[in-house]
Amino acid sequence: MISRRRFLQTSSALLALTPVIGNGANNRYPFTLGVASGSPSDSGGILWTRLAPDPLRGGGMPAGRVEVRYRVCRDQAMRSTLIDDVVVTSDDKVHSVHVALQGLEAGRDYWYQFYVGEDESPVGRLRTTDPRAASARFALASCQAWETGYYTAWRDVAEWAPDCVIHVGDYIYEGGASALGRHRRGSGETALEYEVVRQHNGGEITTLWDYRNRHALYRSDPHLQAAHAASPWLVAMDDHEVDNNWAGLIPQDPWAQTEQEFRIRRLAAFKAWYEHMPVAQPPVIQGLESRLQMYGAWRFGPAQVHLLDTRQYRSDQVCGDGFPGEPACARRDDPGRSMTGDEQEKWLLQQLVRSEAPFNVIAQQTWMTPYRYASGDRYNMDQWDGYTAQRRRLLEAMHGVRNPVVLSGDWHCAQASSLHLDPEDRSSPRVAFEFASTSISSLCSWQDRVHEAAPDNPHVTYVNGRQRGYTRCTVGLDNWCSEFRVVDDPLSASSPLRTDFEFNTRDA
Ligand SMILES: [Fe+2]
Repeated sequence: MISRRRFLQTSSALLALTPVIGNGANNRYPFTLGVASGSPSDSGGILWTRLAPDPLRGGGMPAGRVEVRYRVCRDQAMRSTLIDDVVVTSDDKVHSVHVALQGLEAGRDYWYQFYVGEDESPVGRLRTTDPRAASARFALASCQAWETGYYTAWRDVAEWAPDCVIHVGDYIYEGGASALGRHRRGSGETALEYEVVRQHNGGEITTLWDYRNRHALYRSDPHLQAAHAASPWLVAMDDHEVDNNWAGLIPQDPWAQTEQEFRIRRLAAFKAWYEHMPVAQPPVIQGLESRLQMYGAWRFGPAQVHLLDTRQYRSDQVCGDGFPGEPACARRDDPGRSMTGDEQEKWLLQQLVRSEAPFNVIAQQTWMTPYRYASGDRYNMDQWDGYTAQRRRLLEAMHGVRNPVVLSGDWHCAQASSLHLDPEDRSSPRVAFEFASTSISSLCSWQDRVHEAAPDNPHVTYVNGRQRGYTRCTVGLDNWCSEFRVVDDPLSASSPLRTDFEFNTRDA
């Protein structure tokens, strides 16, 4: 068996052969966006690539169908072939390729590669799950704004090569290009200085063409490609894959885009998201209606992971959009309001009741823990603080379930906290732990407000909005360890990372 180190060397060498994007029509290499695997099971998973010789201008493939050969091997040198087959793609799905593998063995590494003509893709690794394994390792990540930092954290994820990467959203951002160089936001002591190190391609994205080109830009990053090649991923979108703070069919600015316009925009965003993600199911599209099946459950050794979709079926935010919080109002406690919709909530509760796993994970987008801002009784209404009745229902359901762990992202601020049966009353029984990842590269311009408020939130053991990174999670039969990895210098693509804080549930 070849070591993981050797695999990464091979993988980096292949990545190094990938031509630089933007060479125009003369460059016909089709695998500029790398490869990926996802949705691993104990017998297979999804393999992904996309043929895009000119990725930032629609892909550059001629219209029509193309045959793509792929091989799955037992070894990373790609000598011991297990599957050698052909899949057909076309311009209908912008020449993206999704292969559903079945019949593999549990808890094993498999390597895969795609071929078109003389061209070979980089080699990727799919690790199948094993429900009987005594441990599992996950990288939790979110929020990778292209312009404000390099993907140094993804390099560290690729080197660690976990069993799975769990990405809880903000894979792309929809905004237009900013000027390169230093910027200043706010004034006085709370002013935030930051640097735009690279630019978005074009203005705010609204069409299918735009969303495809934006995904391609993000996917051109070598560190992100390496993290996709190193491990299978589970992905669920948050808001910026479509539009900031959208909820159901309501955009952030309903006065600026009609419902019809937003339906069309959401459909484009869903289609492009599927075309770039290693997920099983394309959006179901009927007329202007579109629906994506994003939520689901996966078992990794001691942990059953439930990945939620808290945007598509969400009730609209109430009580205002004040930042980072708004004064509490009665409507946030309305039991009819939901983050997930009734059907998904019912599914989750059934999953939790039936689970026999030693650890039960709810991976989703926004902070579940209450967080009171120092300027008074103020809460962030886009997070679970704006949906308190459903949070209470979920925590009551989790009480009695074995070792619930909530994983979240969205807020560009790392956090470790305990969740209580009465979430606002720390003396009530502790039901779960929550670990939120900081952002891969997105700014946390509200970091001072979060840190100032920390003493008012003693159930939160750790907050860090000042640094970029991700969270390494290692789960065994009787312990969950979260290591908060931080990037020393987000403006350097070669910056080292280190563990800023470690939390072990057996010690809490
Ligand atoms: Fe974000």
